[in-house]
Amino acid sequence: MNKKVFLTGDRPTGRLHLGHFVGSLKNRVEMQNSGLYEPYIFIADMQALTDNAKNPKKIQDNIKEVAIDYLSVGIDPSKSTIFVQSQIPELTELTFYYMNLVTVSRLKRNPTIKTEIIQRGFGESVPVGFLTYPISQAADITAFKADFVPVGEDQAPLIEQCKEIVHTFNATYGDVLKMPEIYLSNNDVCKRLPGTDGKAKMSKSLGNCIYLADDSETVYKKVMSMYTDPNHLKVEDPGNVEDNAVFTYLDAFATDEHFSKYMNEYNNLDELKEHYKRGGLGDVKIKKFLYQILEEILTPIRAKRAYYEEHLDEVYKMLQDGSKRARMVASDTLNEVRNAIGVNYFD
Ligand code: TRP
Repeated sequence: MNKKVFLTGDRPTGRLHLGHFVGSLKNRVEMQNSGLYEPYIFIADMQALTDNAKNPKKIQDNIKEVAIDYLSVGIDPSKSTIFVQSQIPELTELTFYYMNLVTVSRLKRNPTIKTEIIQRGFGESVPVGFLTYPISQAADITAFKADFVPVGEDQAPLIEQCKEIVHTFNATYGDVLKMPEIYLSNNDVCKRLPGTDGKAKMSKSLGNCIYLADDSETVYKKVMSMYTDPNHLKVEDPGNVEDNAVFTYLDAFATDEHFSKYMNEYNNLDELKEHYKRGGLGDVKIKKFLYQILEEILTPIRAKRAYYEEHLDEVYKMLQDGSKRARMVASDTLNEVRNAIGVNYFD
C-alpha cells in the first residue's frame, strides 16, 4: 500500500506548550502510529530566522528544546523523519525557482503575512526573507511531495499560497509537484486552546502558557490561578462554563475514565458542568481535578524530557540522521524540478 505523506513543522522560537500538544502534537503522534502515513516533521529554523535574524542564539537553543519536546510526546524517529530545515539546502534552491511564480503584491495580500507584519511592527521595513517565507514554506511542503499538511487554521493562507505555486509550476513546466491538502483538526476545542488567563490563545508572548517542560509545582500554581467565571464568587453562586478556561481545558483533556479515577461523584463532564451551572460547586475543586488530569498527561512526558536533557548527543544524532534521510528525498524532487525547468544543461 502506498502510504500518504504528511508533513508539518514548527518554528523553534520557544518550548512547546499544551496548546501545541492538543492542537497538533497529539494528532501527529496518532497519525504516525496509525501506520497509514509517511510522516515528515521538521524544525523550521530558517523560517524562524526570517524575523529573528539578529538573534540566532534563540533559534539555536530552541532547536534542541523543540526536538526534546517532539521525542517526549512520542514522535518516534523510527516511524517519522524528523529534520532541521536549514540542513536541507535543496529547499533553498526550490524556493528560488518558486520565487519567479509569485508576485510581491500577492505576498503582501497573504492574510497570515499581513497579520504577522502588524504583530511584529514591521511596517514598510519588512525583511525580504520574512515577506517571502510563504514561498519557502511551499518548498518545504512540495520537496517531500506531501499529501497532507496538518496545521492550525492560521496557516490556511500559507497552504493556499503553496497550492497556487504548485498549480502555476505544473501548468508552466509540467506535472511534477504534488498538490497538498491542509489537514485541520476536527475538534474545535483542540484547534485553539485558550491561555490560562482565558485569552484567545495560549501564546508565549502573553505569558499564559503551560509548557510541556513545566514541573508539577509550576503546573499546580498555573492551574490554581486560572481564569474561570469572574461572577462565580461564592461556592453557592451559579457558574458559567462558557468562556471559562478551566472548563475549556476539561473539554480538551478530561475523559470519563478521569472521572471514575479522580472524581467519581460525577460520571462525566456534562454532569460536572450541570452542577457548576446550578451553583454549589467551587472553583478550587475543579481546578484540582484539572491539575490531576494534566499531571497524568505530563508526568510521562516530563520523564522522557529529563532523559533526553541528559542525553543531548542522542537528540542531535536523531536530528542529523533525520536530516540526512530528508535530504535524499528533497534532492530527488529538486532533480525533477531542474529537469522540468530545463536547468540540467550537462546531463
Ligand atoms: N509556518 C509554520 C509555523 O509557524 C511552520 C512551518 C514552516 C510549516 N514550514 C512548514 C508548517 C511547512 C507546515 C508545513 O508553525
